Amino acid sequence: MTGAGLVREDSGVGYVDVAGVGHTLPDGRELFHDVSFRVGEGAKVALVGPNGAGKTTLLRMVAGDLPVVTGAVARAGGLGVMRQFIGMLGQVGPAATGVPRDETRLRDLALSLAPPALRAAGERLAAAEAAVHDDPTERRQIAYANALAAWGEAGGYDAEVLFDTVATLVLDKPWDEVRDRPVRTLSGGQQKRFALELLLRGTDEVLLLDEPDNFLDVPGKRWLEERLRESAKSVLYVSHDRELLARTADRVVAVEGGSAWVHPGGFASWHEARVARHDRLEERRRRWDEEHQKLRELMLMYKQKAAYNSAMAPRYQAAQTRLRKFEEAGPPELPRATRTSGSG
Ligand SMILES: Nc1ncnc2c1ncn2[C@@H]1O[C@H](COP(=O)(O)OP(=O)(O)O)[C@@H](O)[C@H]1O
Ligand SMILES: [Mg+2]
Repeated sequence: MTGAGLVREDSGVGYVDVAGVGHTLPDGRELFHDVSFRVGEGAKVALVGPNGAGKTTLLRMVAGDLPVVTGAVARAGGLGVMRQFIGMLGQVGPAATGVPRDETRLRDLALSLAPPALRAAGERLAAAEAAVHDDPTERRQIAYANALAAWGEAGGYDAEVLFDTVATLVLDKPWDEVRDRPVRTLSGGQQKRFALELLLRGTDEVLLLDEPDNFLDVPGKRWLEERLRESAKSVLYVSHDRELLARTADRVVAVEGGSAWVHPGGFASWHEARVARHDRLEERRRRWDEEHQKLRELMLMYKQKAAYNSAMAPRYQAAQTRLRKFEEAGPPELPRATRTSGSG
């Protein structure tokens, strides 16, 4: 029962286990394969990689927004998700373009970040409230009273205390005054800060944050670094900010070259580890090429011998089989030339 998600005081075990996960785009192109890593025990794990490498896609698979067809994602504990679009709400589509303005309100945003049972109770309450407001029949009043009771049971009142704390921190206003404000009236930084405060102060044990530092100014970034460092939660996050990464990441998962590899240290030692890894991969490939060459030469030698000595035919066949199997297994992957970070 996750109904009282926001009132759980214990920060129990929460983790995400990603095992052998792959993803193929609708056009058939393989985005990545064989991605494995774990986020648990309060670890801060950074996802890095060039634009388009698949970081957002991977987070969406972990969040359950996208199906996991290849491999498996296991999760425990409450999961709080900050999607990449937060900070951009209402920043596109001004009235002149004919695109309707985004009327998402702060209460919608707050609910969208809440545990599922609370979200459902909140949506039901909002609908019942609107219905009563429209036409206060007795039936609608009863429905509203019931929705209010369900909201309370789901932990709604504790959630409102949290919403009020966050509204005061970010907007210097009580929740009652700002809950119906359109999110677009907040700056990108305020939107991010609002969502981050809710998630970091909430009780979800695992957080997925897609570019949480985008739209934050320098003091905002420093604030986020401190909050991440002091948080007991397990956090998987995407960032391009080297300083933030260096100050917060316990481990780095690099999405590049169509897969991902895990550096079990911080970002400061990541570059060195990456160079060493690339050297290792190149060395492995060099040895494969050498072995390949040897097997080819062996096969050709037996081919020649078998041509004038039929007793050599089985050896020729064996050498051919060995070469074929070796080639079928394929060469080890080489690191693809990739940039280490992008801008968005
Ligand atoms: N629904 C989709 N249909 C087709 N291509 C997509 C879709 N979603 C993402 N992609 C492609 O997948 C790649 C990875 O995207 P994304 O996960 O957003 O990367 P990142 O977050 O690392 O920048 C990009 O090349 C993007 O164009
Ligand atoms: Mg992305």
